[in-house]
Amino acid sequence: MEIDVVEAPPGGVEADVLVFPVPDPVTLTEAAEGIDRLLEGRLARLADDGELRGECGRVTLLHADGRVAARRVGAAGVGKGPLDADSLRTAAAAAARRTREVGGTSIAWLVEGQGTLPPAEQARAIVDGTLLGPYENGRWKTNGDDKPDLQRLVLCGPGAAAGSDEAARAGIAASWANRCRDLVNAPANELTPARLAAWAEETAAGNPALRFEALGPQEIRAAGMGAFSAVSQGSDNPPRLITLTYEPDSPTDPDFRLGLVGKAITFDSGGLSLKPAYRMDEMKSDMGGGAAVLTATAAIAELGLPVRILTVVPSCENMPGGHAFRPGDIITSLSGKTIEISNTDAEGRLILADALWYTRESGATHVLDLATLTGGVVVAMGDLYAGLFGNDDEWVAVIEGAAAASGDRAWRLPLHERYARYNDSSFADLKNSSDYRQASPILAAAFLQEFAGDGPWAHLDIAGTSYLERGRGDYYTRLGATGYGVRLLAELARRLSS
Ligand code: BES
Ligand code: MN
Ligand code: ZN
Repeated sequence: MEIDVVEAPPGGVEADVLVFPVPDPVTLTEAAEGIDRLLEGRLARLADDGELRGECGRVTLLHADGRVAARRVGAAGVGKGPLDADSLRTAAAAAARRTREVGGTSIAWLVEGQGTLPPAEQARAIVDGTLLGPYENGRWKTNGDDKPDLQRLVLCGPGAAAGSDEAARAGIAASWANRCRDLVNAPANELTPARLAAWAEETAAGNPALRFEALGPQEIRAAGMGAFSAVSQGSDNPPRLITLTYEPDSPTDPDFRLGLVGKAITFDSGGLSLKPAYRMDEMKSDMGGGAAVLTATAAIAELGLPVRILTVVPSCENMPGGHAFRPGDIITSLSGKTIEISNTDAEGRLILADALWYTRESGATHVLDLATLTGGVVVAMGDLYAGLFGNDDEWVAVIEGAAAASGDRAWRLPLHERYARYNDSSFADLKNSSDYRQASPILAAAFLQEFAGDGPWAHLDIAGTSYLERGRGDYYTRLGATGYGVRLLAELARRLSS
């Protein structure tokens, strides 16, 4: 989608719909009053009659009949209280979906000059909502809707010029978030580890600062990645260790190297510790972390941010069968630590153990992993917040800041050394799952910490936020992939660049 900024008065901007925000209860800002004057007071009359309302997500659409350059005017409710970015994202998403419904392909959005939210933040939220809101996941329907996609978003009004750079950046991040959603929604019969690697290879070819590499099953085994190999061995679809390196021309700090690690289980059946049938289909999304770090790396490269990155994505299927690893098996990880398998469904931490160690050994100074790791984090925080863990307060704080600013929310959970005893094994250095159901997101994080090496490391458990079981009532209105992490990582890289 093309994003433009015009400084002409909103009434003169050509578009299928000219949208402005309205709070609840309705008041018209000076800029909205200007539109209403051109419409000869219709907006005020609709508001008086209670037909134009400001509930967040409600859109009131009227034909402009030539009184403004746009075909229609849309009042997008942003809800009660001081305007915040999330309400604006939700309003922009609703306006974008409505525009598509009436067959429109272009939207003009009025950016306010003053208020609680600075113009740059408004522009960013409007772009987020407009791009993420209309995303459809029915790509495989043969009789899907034939409405054209949105082509153009024009920011206009008093704050538009000040929001221009931010809008362009947000557009890049949100577009890659939608590509992440395409990957996560793709079924496991389409998106195998080899296909994910091929996607990464094609993507890397599009940017000279990106380099792609992938290891296959023999190389993974030969490298000593016994944990990753064990999870992979039950599937006929061979694993890949996908790496992308991003080397910008003049990095802000040449000694700093961000290591991004993402879990990419293309299907998690649980293995021999088989999952129940109910909703097992959702486990096609168990590669949400890997998809997020790959697409975010591409976004950061397109943004040209001056931070060096090593992205590592272990990808395989977790399947039962005659070749599958078993409960009781003892394997040797790349770090040399031995692991007793107590549950083959705790596979994410196994592939990450080797990937984290590999990332650190390859020279990453600051590591962050994203993984759909535990059902426990879904129970604890639902679909709104990812669980954040780390071994370094400063590093965790940087990630918390990026999360809050990006719209991809994260909340820190504790790691304490006394949790580690639940990962003790009678036979090996560690076991991969505890005998109790308590604190499973924390125990998983404590397990990963053993393989994070020396230096700052953080972990985002995105099991609840990466793939929705149902719409969320905001700008994610449907079940399916959210692209969680892409906006967060793009914002993180920006913060690390300055
Ligand atoms: N991929 C799952 C976690 C998951 C659950 C992601 C629900 C998305 C939605 C992970 O591999 C898993 O099976 N975790 C187990 C670990 C347990 C066996 C220690 C879990 O959380 O139940
Ligand atoms: Mn599992
Ligand atoms: Zn899993």
